[in-house]
Amino acid sequence: MSVCLVTGAAGFIGSSLINTIVKNGDKVIGVDNFRTGYSSNLLQDSDNFIFVEADVSDKIVVDSLFSKYKPEITYHLAALVSVKESSENPELNWKLNYEMTTIIADVCCKYNCKIVFSSTAAVYETNNQPCSETSKVFPVSPYGVAKLESEKFILNNSNNFIIARFFNVYGIRQNPSSPYAGVISKFGYNTLNKIPRIIYGDGNQVRDFINVLDVVDILHKLAKLKQCDVFNVCTGNPTSLLKLDSIFNGLAPNNPRTIFLPAMESEVKYSVGSNLKTTNAIGDVSFQSIEPSIKLLFFEKSS
Ligand SMILES: NC(=O)c1ccc[n+]([C@@H]2O[C@H](COP(=O)([O-])OP(=O)(O)OC[C@H]3O[C@@H](n4cnc5c(N)ncnc54)[C@H](O)[C@@H]3O)[C@@H](O)[C@H]2O)c1
Repeated sequence: MSVCLVTGAAGFIGSSLINTIVKNGDKVIGVDNFRTGYSSNLLQDSDNFIFVEADVSDKIVVDSLFSKYKPEITYHLAALVSVKESSENPELNWKLNYEMTTIIADVCCKYNCKIVFSSTAAVYETNNQPCSETSKVFPVSPYGVAKLESEKFILNNSNNFIIARFFNVYGIRQNPSSPYAGVISKFGYNTLNKIPRIIYGDGNQVRDFINVLDVVDILHKLAKLKQCDVFNVCTGNPTSLLKLDSIFNGLAPNNPRTIFLPAMESEVKYSVGSNLKTTNAIGDVSFQSIEPSIKLLFFEKSS
């Protein structure tokens, strides 16, 4: 049995990751300060899960956690996750998306622990699509810049790491009421509440939506690799917002009509990844299809 530490344990992706790790027989120490996470997301009643409420931007706190629990793998997911907030508060973005990563990475080195870092497709230049791991990087947001600098810090300072660049993650426990929630959770919330869905621009924006269950499965497999490398976490499938809207329309045809508002300034038009390197490393992944996933998440009450 391995001991893993997960930062951002009460968050959307962290909470699903913990379920997967525990199901696979390992022990997890989950840490979160509830900045954007929720205690209701945390796994209940498991002998293999310990939760610690703590701020992992504090080096002394992190060191004492490692000294006490001696994790072999640390999945570092805690972050300031909103691109918009990263522009509104660049100092906090730098603290939580760069400095916090350097603290975790340094302590991982000190205690011989592997770090699995959650980076983002926002590091890529948007003109070269689909993005492979060797595509040009050119982040335009403070969020993307801090994540890319974190990647560089890990590449230069660690000899036991995985850098995972997530594309657009959706799924169970994604909070639709946050102003920064993903479009699928917002569409789901509006549809269930008979509120018109809103599309900014013409709806031809394209994204690579990946179910959180696939994300955590991939992360868990990447963490077992011997090689230290950068990997995309994506499906490779493009889906436009118009297509997404039509899926919701098909599932709830009597809803109010979708409202189109002016496009948001500097919104990326097309973001799709290549997952060839990842699937070559971990084997094929049977990705959840988007339409049945949406049906299950919002219309079959299984979540
Ligand atoms: N959701 C996506 O589509 C997406 C895409 C690309 C990358 N990512 C990355 O995945 C990771 C997880 O994102 P998420 O969508 O689950 O977001 P989330 O906000 O649900 O989870 C982040 C968690 O980190 C916690 N946290 C923040 N600062 C902390 C601190 N100082 N100490 C302890 N805990 C702290 C929050 O309370 C929250 O529970 C992040 O690193 C994010 O940048 C997410």
